[in-house]
Formats: sequence, C-alpha cells, structure tokens
Amino acid sequence: MALLPLLLLLLLRIVASAPASLPATALFVLGDSTASCAATTLPINLSLTSSSGNCLFPSAHRLLPDLLAAKMGLPPPPLISTLNGTAAEVARGVNFAGEDGGRGAIFRLGAVGQQLRLATETLQLLRLEAPTPQDADAAAARAVFILSFGTDAYARVLSRGSEADASAPKHGRRGLARLLADRVARAVEELYEAGARRTAVMGVAPLGCAPRVMWEGLHVVDGRSCVEEANELVQGYNARVAARLAALRPRLPGADIVFCDIYKGIMDIITHPARFGFDETRKACCGLGPFGGTVGCLTKEMVCPTPQRHVWWDLYSPTEVVTSLLANWSWSTPSHSNTTICRPITLEMLTGHMSPMSPSKS
Ligand SMILES: *[C@@H]1O[C@H](CO)[C@@H](O)[C@H](O)[C@H]1NC(C)=O
Ligand SMILES: *[C@@H]1O[C@H](CO)[C@@H](O)[C@H](O)[C@H]1NC(C)=O
Ligand SMILES: *[C@@H]1O[C@H](CO)[C@@H](O)[C@H](O)[C@H]1NC(C)=O
Ligand SMILES: *[C@@H]1O[C@H](CO)[C@@H](O)[C@H](O)[C@H]1NC(C)=O
Repeated sequence: MALLPLLLLLLLRIVASAPASLPATALFVLGDSTASCAATTLPINLSLTSSSGNCLFPSAHRLLPDLLAAKMGLPPPPLISTLNGTAAEVARGVNFAGEDGGRGAIFRLGAVGQQLRLATETLQLLRLEAPTPQDADAAAARAVFILSFGTDAYARVLSRGSEADASAPKHGRRGLARLLADRVARAVEELYEAGARRTAVMGVAPLGCAPRVMWEGLHVVDGRSCVEEANELVQGYNARVAARLAALRPRLPGADIVFCDIYKGIMDIITHPARFGFDETRKACCGLGPFGGTVGCLTKEMVCPTPQRHVWWDLYSPTEVVTSLLANWSWSTPSHSNTTICRPITLEMLTGHMSPMSPSKS
C-alpha cells in the first residue's frame, strides 16, 4: 500500500532526471514575419516594435512563438537586435527572426543562413559561460528551437507584378519548395550539431485563402473558394519539409524534431468556421478593397469592429484568435477535438512540459 506511491515517486524521479524530459527554460526562434514583427513585409510604420519587443499597430497581434513562450512559462524571447551580447541576456532565449542577411535578398533565403549563424554563435557564447561542458550540453539540449520560414517567401512568389517577375527563382515557383525545404532541413541538422535537441518547424499557412492572394486571384475564384494553385504550391513546400524532417530523424539520435502543420490548423477553421466562433473566413479585418486585400492595414480606423470573428487580420496574417487556436493545438491535443497539428509529438511534450508516456496532464 505504501509501496506503490514510493515506486511512483521513484519512477517520476527517473523520468525527471532524463534531461530530455525536463521543462525547457529557453526558447530560440528563427523565422520570418510569422515569428517576429520586426520582419514585417509591410512598407509602412517602421517603428513596429516597442522596447519590450511587442508588435505595435498595425501588427498588434501576438505571434505564435510568443504565445508558445507563454505556455512554457517564459517571456517572449527578446529580439536579437535589442540585446547587448552578454550571456545572461540570452540564457532564456532569443528571437533571431527578421534578421535577413541583407534586406531585399531574393526571397530572403539568406535569412536562414544568417539566423543560423547568430543562433550557433549564441550557443557558443552560452558554452563559454557554462561552468562545465556538460552543463553547456545539457542547457543546449533542454532549449527549444522554433523555425518558422516560408510565408514571406511564398507571399512574394504569389504576389503579381513586376517584383515577383523580376525575382522569381530560375527553377520557377515550384522550385522554391525544394530550395526552401532543403535549406530548413539543413538548418535543423546544423542546430543539432551545435547541441540543439528539441526543434519544431512550422509549416506555411494556406496563403491561397489569404486576402491578398484572393484579391490577386479574383479572376479565378468565385469569392467562396480559395486560390487552389497557390494552396498547392504551399502544400508542396509543407509536404517536402515534413518529408525531409522525417528522413532526418533517424540520423539525429537523441533529438526530437517536430513538424507543425499550420496549414491544416487554419484549413480546419476555414472549413468549419462556426465551430470555432468565426463568421468571416475571406475578408481581412483590416484592409481595403475586395477581401481587404488591395491595401494592407494602415490605420486604426480601418480595423473591423469584431476582429475575433475574422480568420485574417490583414493581407497574409491570421488574427490573434486564430494564432491562439494554433498555439493551443500545437501545444496539446484537446480531448474534445481532432485537431492535432504537430507530429510526431505535441509541443507540450517537446518542451518537456508533459512526458510522452503519460496519458494526460491534470
Ligand atoms: C507607428 O508606430 C508608432 C510607435 O510608437 C505609433 O505611435 C504610431 O501610431 C504608428 N503609426 C501608425 C500610422 O499606426
Ligand atoms: C547588458 O544587458 C544586461 C541586461 O539588460 C545588463 O545587466 C548589462 O549591464 C548589459 N551589459 C552591457 C555591457 O551593456
Ligand atoms: C487557448 O488556450 C487557452 C488556455 O487553455 C485559453 O485560455 C484560450 O481561450 C484558448 N484560445 C482560444 C482561441 O480558444
Ligand atoms: C472528429 O472526427 C470524427 C470522425 O472523423 C468526427 O465525426 C467528429 O465530428 C470530429 N470532431 C471534431 C470536434 O472535429
């Protein structure tokens, strides 16, 4: 009778002493404008971040990595550009997103390499300051890395006009999927070599349903469906990066590598809006023209009265309610819903907030 609790306690001890199951105390974020408001593609307000790193209007919605940080019990990771380079500052994580290795770089593929370099330098800095190499390894292994690339690249490819034509990759729109998926998979591998053991890669949203692409594709959509060609392109990337990660897993022992299918999450909402409290799946909450897709969000007067009923905030970004649902579905699988978007494990498991073996959390 008294034995059982003791055994349980021992078991818990053993589980908890495996570094991989300890809750993460640091979150490092790499990505584009889906991961940092400093990376906005909108050519408007240049003072988009407050000193605390929060997005200001018109990007005033919290982004997925920041919502996930909150679930981990961490503050939003500070932007790299606001830091002074001391180890104490970076110990709980850094947001590298938006560092693009040269503004205007074609499709910002350079951003992946640039941010990867900053991330590995940061891990080296922490290593120098750690009491022992073992401590450094353990800290790197416990930290969580989120990679969220692709949305800005596809937004550019999908936008009509001279810019897209001038900068389209030689291999065409379809070539981007391979290029970008290879680059992101390589980044996961390089982070592993630098000591990272917990990595989540975010897929790209169904941009074919985003207000900007809907507006551009007015000639092909009837206003109810999405631009299928655009969604196929994005799905091509998502499938490819998921496959690359699957191929990587057996080669990176001791690592948890997760793919989160943002596309599926948003499509579930667009397909069953009422189930989640939405009634506007096409039109941006803040924008002008058909679907609010001609001109992006510029002033507070443009904001719709009920943002929480809109799937899209502006040209390409979902509203904060949608992002909050995506964060919740990435974190855990609610018993009453079928919406699991991260595989093979949830982010709650990845971050060590829940053991993959335990069936549920109290
Ligand atoms: C631009 O950002 C600043 C940041 O403080 C804010 O005060 C201002 O209202 C913003 N401009 C617009 C047009 O929203
Ligand atoms: C760097 O920032 C930290 C925390 O904000 C501060 O304590 C430290 O004094 C700063 N160091 C330098 C060299 O500015
Ligand atoms: C996400 O989960 C949190 C915590 O359980 C909850 O408070 C919030 O309402 C959820 N978000 C949405 C949009 O349902
Ligand atoms: C879950 O899936 C089942 C079978 O596919 C379906 O009948 C049910 O409506 C789904 N529930 C939710 C909340 O989506």
